[in-house]
Amino acid sequence: MSDHQFTKQSAGAESEPKETFVDYNALDAEARRILNLNDRGGYTVPTDGLYPYQWNWDSAFAAYGFAQFNIDRAWQELESLMAGQWASGMVPHILFHKEDARYFPGPDVWGGVGPIPSSGISQPPVAATFARRVYEMDPLAGKERMSAIYEGLRRWHQWFLKWRTDENGAICVTHPWEAGRDNTPEWDGPLKRIDPVGVGEYKRRDTSHVNPEMRPTKFDYDRYIWLVNLGRNLDWDDAKLKEANPFRVADPTMTFLLLRAHRDLQALGEALNLPTDGMDADIALLEAGARSLWNPKLQCYDAKDVMADEWAGCVSSASFLCWGAGIENERMVAHFDRVMQAVKYGVPSHDPHSDRFEPKRYWRGPSWAIVNYLIGTGMELSTDADVRARGRALAENTREAIAKFGFAEYFDPLTGEPAGGSTFTWTAAVWLGWASPTVKG
Ligand code: DGY
Repeated sequence: MSDHQFTKQSAGAESEPKETFVDYNALDAEARRILNLNDRGGYTVPTDGLYPYQWNWDSAFAAYGFAQFNIDRAWQELESLMAGQWASGMVPHILFHKEDARYFPGPDVWGGVGPIPSSGISQPPVAATFARRVYEMDPLAGKERMSAIYEGLRRWHQWFLKWRTDENGAICVTHPWEAGRDNTPEWDGPLKRIDPVGVGEYKRRDTSHVNPEMRPTKFDYDRYIWLVNLGRNLDWDDAKLKEANPFRVADPTMTFLLLRAHRDLQALGEALNLPTDGMDADIALLEAGARSLWNPKLQCYDAKDVMADEWAGCVSSASFLCWGAGIENERMVAHFDRVMQAVKYGVPSHDPHSDRFEPKRYWRGPSWAIVNYLIGTGMELSTDADVRARGRALAENTREAIAKFGFAEYFDPLTGEPAGGSTFTWTAAVWLGWASPTVKG
């Protein structure tokens, strides 16, 4: 079996033109235009309308995109994100800088308790990973600015370790939105156990921007809002919420990405002569946590419902974030090949062989350029040359999807059809930093 069968498949599809001229310089220019278009002055929105605020991991990707042509603006993005940090160390998943009626739930529903109106949960902590990338692109320009946000990033990571670990050191999410993978089938079991009493009537805005078939269902949304209400009613007090919140899932996204980010932060601390005490022990704990997410029955990294002590039983794109965290397992290569042979564009968010796979519904099947990036760059770090080759092939596959179908929020992995929002910040960033053939190494 070929290592790169998935790229061969996509290149050889009968119904598509064999070779078409692609103007990569024009695509680079379009990606830069999108970043500037979504710039609201110091922070970037994911896309206008659907997401009109600053989102945490979108913003870290935006910084990386800006760094390709404006390093000062890249640092500004990270600084504006860290400006929303709570006293507890938590960095919120949304910062509501300026109210916008086109989004629900807004600042009043969330009632965040930080220096800037915000949501009350966090999001995958990729900021330190991108801060390292931005810093290494120009250490001289970045020295002071990196040093200024270093302690904040360390406190944020500590907050995860204090409030979000399970007994093994894996990181848990306490709301489906915290993992960034809102409606992935991993949450189906724990969400079913929630009875969303008192949620009442509310008006969703997402489905007026995007085809509802591409968005989470009402069943999911009722529970998302119920969990927001619970947090707000407890003033987002971490200790009280740990007692009261029935949703607590040990998650490969958070665990692998925090492990990656903590390694990156430690490398930055060493480069800048800043305190790194305790970080080796944190990393050892997170490594143990990451390994504990191995579901022996599935033979794959999986999410685990901590409250019910139940595996989700899902091979998802988050399972493949292992390489970036420095966790290798041969069985994951076999899963990767099996999954990629069933699709044409990108890593599907859910196993295409599963009966819960829906190719256009948000995190239940579509592929995401940012996840391709996180998986692909992780694979490129592998000690195994065959795994590294798969990482490179994934960059080329992502290039093909964006070149053919545009800077979409996500893609149907079977056809490449663009889905969700358009002119998307993080897709443009992934293009500029990784997928474009003009990227310099
Ligand atoms: C949304 O509104 O869909 C977001 O994913 C929440 O973060």
